[in-house]
Amino acid sequence: MRKVRTLGLLGTGVIGGGWAARALHFGIDVIAADVKPEMEEWIRGAVANAEPALARLTIAPLPPKGTLSFTTDLAEMARRADFIQENIPEQLALKQRMLAEVSRHAAADVVIASSTSGLTPTDLQSDMVAPERFLVAHPFNPVYLLPLVELVGGARTAPAAIDAAAEFMTYIGMHALRVRREVPGHLTDRLQEAIWREILHMVNEGVATTGELDDSIVYGPGLRWAAMGTNMIYHLAGGESGMRHMLAQFGPALKWPWTKLEAPELTESLIDKMVEGTQAQAAGRSIRELERLRDDYLVAIQQALRQFDIGAGATLRALEERLYRDAATDAPAARAPAPDRPAADALLRYDTVVRPEWADYNSHMTDFRYGQVFGDAMDALYRRVGIDAESRKTGAVFYTVESHVRHVAEAKIGERLYVTTQVLHVDDKRLHVFHHLRRSADDALVATADQMHLSVNRSAARAAPMGAPLRGKLDAIRAAHAGLPAPPESGQAVGARLQR
Ligand SMILES: NC(=O)c1ccc[n+]([C@@H]2O[C@H](COP(=O)([O-])OP(=O)(O)OC[C@H]3O[C@@H](n4cnc5c(N)ncnc54)[C@H](O)[C@@H]3O)[C@@H](O)[C@H]2O)c1
Repeated sequence: MRKVRTLGLLGTGVIGGGWAARALHFGIDVIAADVKPEMEEWIRGAVANAEPALARLTIAPLPPKGTLSFTTDLAEMARRADFIQENIPEQLALKQRMLAEVSRHAAADVVIASSTSGLTPTDLQSDMVAPERFLVAHPFNPVYLLPLVELVGGARTAPAAIDAAAEFMTYIGMHALRVRREVPGHLTDRLQEAIWREILHMVNEGVATTGELDDSIVYGPGLRWAAMGTNMIYHLAGGESGMRHMLAQFGPALKWPWTKLEAPELTESLIDKMVEGTQAQAAGRSIRELERLRDDYLVAIQQALRQFDIGAGATLRALEERLYRDAATDAPAARAPAPDRPAADALLRYDTVVRPEWADYNSHMTDFRYGQVFGDAMDALYRRVGIDAESRKTGAVFYTVESHVRHVAEAKIGERLYVTTQVLHVDDKRLHVFHHLRRSADDALVATADQMHLSVNRSAARAAPMGAPLRGKLDAIRAAHAGLPAPPESGQAVGARLQR
């Protein structure tokens, strides 16, 4: 299976648009195909709508965004894509026909996946050329923010296709859940449908309104589910003997039963109650408004869960680890040095971009973000010498003990910037560095930072020698920088140039 640089989309509605936004954000090019030419405008709008929330998901350094192209020619999309995701309406015969057609135009090493909510892969792959590269990759709306994707193979799917899909999905920040056996509805929609069926019964019977039923989830189980799911939460509810006690206590109730297996008839009166109930809940807010609210809290929840390295927060952490690693190792190609920094290529370089939420009321990068950018540049340096989240648990950590930032020019939203880091001094406990923050477009200086970092033993909470292997790597960088002129601003205090 090939490395994915271009994602092909078949069908660019709600789900196709979500895939596009996610892939583009993490640096993958997208070629989107739809039968309706007017969907080009739609998908571009969908990507733009997704961007503000996506931009807030992480402050980790991102690669340059992918580019989006659109076609009504399915064959063109299939020829240009390295991975194809189908997102057309949920009709078996239509999907079978279109997947077969796509498979005739795509090279045999291109994985083809379907977003189907409930159709099974064996049925979908029946008429395809090279059906072994086909699987279901079922995402959740909004695809650009929810990490879950269920991967399901059919009777003719090769395990390598599932592995390749898992690798790609992980790269674009998703949690690939491998479903062991194909069942209609996969795992999640089967569970969601069970809840929805009960909702329809209770609304139909006048037991509760749609709003009350939503309250019954959002103030209680919904909060628990976000990190632990039903089974772990029930295990906790069973006291010391956990799930065993839970089953003994509540098991008999399963036989009563509280729930119903058949959905009620969708009568006009039930449809009205569902529609009127949700309209009342929306309280005049448009779908767009509610989507923005949903996106904002989905970002905030994932960031909260990241602290506990649990559920979707663990996925976000792993993604950030990868982004920082890539930023440190994929140093951009050497560029012509600017006249005022002749030996620039010897410096360590870290690239970033001014995100919208970094700006103050003047639309310029606000001052505390400079600290963040220099911190990210230091992270890149640390990674280069082998200090990462894993090694920090047991070994070396550095604390910033002094930092002098000088602001020279403004940085506007969307501007690409880079930091070059010069190592001025290393000894057993201290690391003295000097950063220049510049604008990528013209190398203009934006800010400098003069910083002292201290090697610390965390358990003793005091400065401690950093250890020979690490010292050796930092010494090597210092030696490479030895020929560079010392920045004249280094060692200055605030206001040093003022006449007193
Ligand atoms: N909406 C959801 O919440 C959700 C969640 C997960 C999965 N899914 C699944 O994703 C798929 C798409 O759902 P959606 O909600 O995006 O639907 P949608 O109606 O919003 O989009 C479908 C798109 O497919 C296009 N299309 C139709 N026939 C086509 C063809 N022959 N060739 C190319 N394009 C064609 C349509 O023009 C439309 O733009 C379905 O299989 C659905 O079950 C939906």
